[in-house]
Amino acid sequence: MEILKAIKTRQSIRAFKANPINQDVMKKILQAVSNSPSYTNTQPWEVFVVSGKKKKELGQKLLELARAKAPTHPALPTPKGWPPALEERSREHGARRLSTLGVARSDEEGREKLRLMNFEFYGAPCAVFLFIDGSLGEWSIFDMGLFAQNLILAAHSLGVESCLQASVTNYAPEIKKFLGIAESKKLVICIALGYPDEKAKLNTYRSLKQKPDEFTRWYE
Ligand SMILES: Cc1cc2nc3c(=O)[nH]c(=O)nc-3n(C[C@H](O)[C@H](O)[C@H](O)COP(=O)(O)O)c2cc1C
Repeated sequence: MEILKAIKTRQSIRAFKANPINQDVMKKILQAVSNSPSYTNTQPWEVFVVSGKKKKELGQKLLELARAKAPTHPALPTPKGWPPALEERSREHGARRLSTLGVARSDEEGREKLRLMNFEFYGAPCAVFLFIDGSLGEWSIFDMGLFAQNLILAAHSLGVESCLQASVTNYAPEIKKFLGIAESKKLVICIALGYPDEKAKLNTYRSLKQKPDEFTRWYE
């Protein structure tokens, strides 16, 4: 797929078919992503690909924790608030996602159901966890953003869709324990990957985007 087309057509997918991703396809994605740029070429990424029985077990564990509203320990702090314009976009995103499903804002049960879907990776057959060493700082997190974007674009170009999931990182200590990853590592993001369920209502949701003129100033 042509790169501009891939950037323009990628969107978060929140309902997946059960079909697994062939390991050769995953390897192709990772091969492409290995070419990502990084601060002084440090390549801080550590990638954990979880599928099959392990993914199911981990999803069940995370769902239990989320359902019980267990204490959260994300490596990257959850934003405490946003400047007004960003706050409005975030609110609108939440509201429009709910209305796609026909869930009213006052419907606490419906909202909770949608929140909990995160912890089963929206039914995706594969969850990818991106870690860095715990000693690393903001530039390495910047690198991981580029890496994650390359990963979801490479996947998209091969028909594999994605949803980035900060919510899942709330249970970073439990994920590390489950996967046998050293406590000192930092979980940056989880990415649900798989083939989209075209019939799912949730996948008809499209986020609103600013026009380039709204975020760009030109100088000559
Ligand atoms: C850092 C980051 C964390 C995200 N975490 C979640 C998440 O936990 N759950 C979720 O459903 N979507 C999550 N998303 C997806 C965003 O909601 C989505 O990218 C945004 O609404 C724009 O929509 P689009 O990806 O379809 O363009 C996350 C995206 C980013 C970049």
